[in-house]
Amino acid sequence: MNLSEAKDRLAHYGQEHLLRFFDTISQTEQHELLTEIAGIDFPTLERLIHEWVLNEPAPEKFDRIEPVPVIPPVEPNRADAREALDAGESALRAGRVGCMVVAGGQGTRLGFDGPKGSYPVGPITKNTLFQYHAEKIVGLNRRYGCRIPWYVMVSNTNADATQEFFRANNHFGLRASDITFFQQKMMPCVDDSGKLILEERGRLAMNPNGHGGSILALVDEGIVQDARKRGVDTLSYFQVDNWAVKVADPYFIGYHVSRGSEMSSKVHRKRAVRESVGVHCLCDGQYRVIEYSELDLYPQLLETTSSGAPVHFAGNPAIHILSVEFIERVYREFATFPWHRAHKKIPYINEQGQLIKPEKPNGYKFETFIFDALRLCKSAPVSLEIREIGEYTPIKQFDGDNSVMSARRLQRDHWADWFDAAGSPVPRNRDGEVIIDLEVSPAFALTKDEFVARARDKKWKTEGPLAIFADGTTASLLPLH
Ligand code: UD1
Repeated sequence: MNLSEAKDRLAHYGQEHLLRFFDTISQTEQHELLTEIAGIDFPTLERLIHEWVLNEPAPEKFDRIEPVPVIPPVEPNRADAREALDAGESALRAGRVGCMVVAGGQGTRLGFDGPKGSYPVGPITKNTLFQYHAEKIVGLNRRYGCRIPWYVMVSNTNADATQEFFRANNHFGLRASDITFFQQKMMPCVDDSGKLILEERGRLAMNPNGHGGSILALVDEGIVQDARKRGVDTLSYFQVDNWAVKVADPYFIGYHVSRGSEMSSKVHRKRAVRESVGVHCLCDGQYRVIEYSELDLYPQLLETTSSGAPVHFAGNPAIHILSVEFIERVYREFATFPWHRAHKKIPYINEQGQLIKPEKPNGYKFETFIFDALRLCKSAPVSLEIREIGEYTPIKQFDGDNSVMSARRLQRDHWADWFDAAGSPVPRNRDGEVIIDLEVSPAFALTKDEFVARARDKKWKTEGPLAIFADGTTASLLPLH
């Protein structure tokens, strides 16, 4: 796009001020600014400004909000679970399954400078979130004799750093050709009067367009085409921050394929109504996930049973399966996909060219959420309840709920159970708390059963911290802290 085309487009949408400093910036900056302007989806933005900024939208109202029907947690001896396992394992063996992780977010709450996936989460090895997820894929490839492609969604904020991190770590034992990075689009922020914001004289304030943007990026960046070429028709979706997620869980895949679901979700039982997770529910019969920030709009979602448990218990751990065909359909209908807004403090360059850091929210960022695709399903989405331990341990911050520190405790409990079952009992204090750090590479064992089987002729020394690597070798590097 050249300068005169940019001027025309901006004039058409009332955003001419973006070129206010054009003559004062370098040629490179001019080129970058024109590229940013060329990439903006102005018609969508205009609609969002009209609906969400210049007018105060009325919250959606529902006559009836009901809990979603869920499949209870897997019990391996239950007939439906056995059938699901068969179907899921067949799909994996046939190479029909790919993995996709959304890792384009900014991870602001963790206060970690770098892609969130490069956060060292292993208590002993300091292995990163990306390494854990990769080793799960290594374990699945070995178990099912397949080569699961892994699609990693990044954004402008972390694309280069993420790819460099994978290269520097030799792709964590996976083939580089089985890992594809794809980039979600950015969405400009707007101020309270609906004007786009310059964060530098030659740069717009933008944010990644939310994980719902994966639908657009999967098609635009050639991922669904790559999947189809490989014979993959089913994608296992997870968030980079969930250290414990069971990637491409054969039970979950089995329920999804055998029930003809287009998009499936795991749900976990919320412990408290205010837990910071979305809630899966049926709103006037339509499948929805109501985000935790919107709970107060729907007081029904805060109801509890006589024992104090949330009536709407189905928390959203953000673990899904999506069929490739469904992604293609949602892509075609994306003009109707819902957007969400957040009122934020957005630094900006004022008319005099000075950088201002506002003290209160001064503008909006817009995002789309993948779970809004659930309402577009033509067949009933499958919801499978999970127990949190060993499946859902997100890392959102350093301490407190869903933190690095709480993950450490859960990791100890999770793996202690495996070591106990394998005949290497783990020391606990009088309150039953595990007192050593433990760690098992998912490339060594993905499940407790696999661990017990692979550990058959081994006796581990569990008096101190103990890490088991992919090849079964051990290390005991750090004391408990
Ligand atoms: C999210 C879910 C919430 C769920 C919880 C489970 C949303 C809006 N809400 O909350 O319902 O219960 O996780 O842990 O997601 N990401 C991108 N691109 C983006 C934005 C986010 O890839 O543009 C990725 C992040 O890298 C991260 C994930 O999406 O992996 C979640 O984002 P985050 O902002 O941490 O969501 P939460 O508020 O924790």
